[in-house]
Amino acid sequence: MRHIMVLNAKGGCGKSTLATNIAGFYADEGKVVALADYDSQCSSLDWLSLRPGSAPKIEGVKGFDSGLKGVSRGTDVVVIDAPARSHGKELTDLLNHADTVVVPVLPSTIDMRATTRFLKEIYASGRYKRKQIKVGLVGNRVREKTLIFDELDAYLEKQRSTYVASLREAQNYVRAYTRGLSIFDLPEYLAWPDWEQWHPVVEWLDSKRSRP
Ligand SMILES: Nc1ncnc2c1ncn2[C@@H]1O[C@H](COP(=O)(O)OP(=O)(O)O)[C@@H](O)[C@H]1O
Ligand SMILES: [Mg+2]
Repeated sequence: MRHIMVLNAKGGCGKSTLATNIAGFYADEGKVVALADYDSQCSSLDWLSLRPGSAPKIEGVKGFDSGLKGVSRGTDVVVIDAPARSHGKELTDLLNHADTVVVPVLPSTIDMRATTRFLKEIYASGRYKRKQIKVGLVGNRVREKTLIFDELDAYLEKQRSTYVASLREAQNYVRAYTRGLSIFDLPEYLAWPDWEQWHPVVEWLDSKRSRP
C-alpha cells in the first residue's frame, strides 16, 4: 500500500487540489484508492461528496485520530490531505503516515519563506533522517513569464528535495473540483495543457525516486 501525503504548513497552497487530483488520477487508472482527509476543513471529503456515481470510486477516510485504520484492505494508494499549520510533534506524527510527501508551493515570497522553515522541520525529523520518506516539491498556481514565477522556479531548483513540476493557475482545477472530478476527467481540448504539466508529477510518483 502506497501512502502519498500532500503537506505544507502554509494554508491555501493547493494541498486539497493536489490530493484530489492525485486520487482522481489513480482511480482513473483502475487502482483501489483511498483519500484520507486529515484537515478539519474537510475539503477532500467535500470533493468526494460531489463525485458522480459514474466516476471510478474513491474511498473517503476521515480524520487524523483514527489514523489509517479506516482504510480498506487491498487499497493500492492512500492519498492524505494534511492540515495546514502542522508543526512540532503534530508534524512528526503526520510524517509517520507517509512514505511520499508532496509539497505544493505558491509563487509568493511569503509562501517560499514559510516553505523554507517547513522543509527545515521535515529534514530535522527522524523519519526523514532515516530515509523513510521522499519529498517532492510542486509549484502551484504559477503564471509563466512573471517575475515571481522566475523566482519560484529558481527557489524550487535550489532545494534539497526534488523539484517535480510546476502547475499553472487554471480554472480547470476549480471546474473539476466543483464536479467531484480531477482534471484528468475534463475534456482533452480544455485540459491538455494541465495533463502535460501533470506528466512529470505522475512519472515521479510512479518511479522509485519518490519511494523510500
Ligand atoms: N492550480 C490552480 N489553479 C487555480 N486555482 C487553484 C489552483 N490550485 C489551487 N487553486 C485554488 O486555490 C484555493 C486553495 O487551494 P486548496 O487546494 O484548497 O489549498 P489548501 O488545501 O492548501 O488550503 C482553492 O480555491 C483552489 O480552488
Ligand atoms: Mg485543504
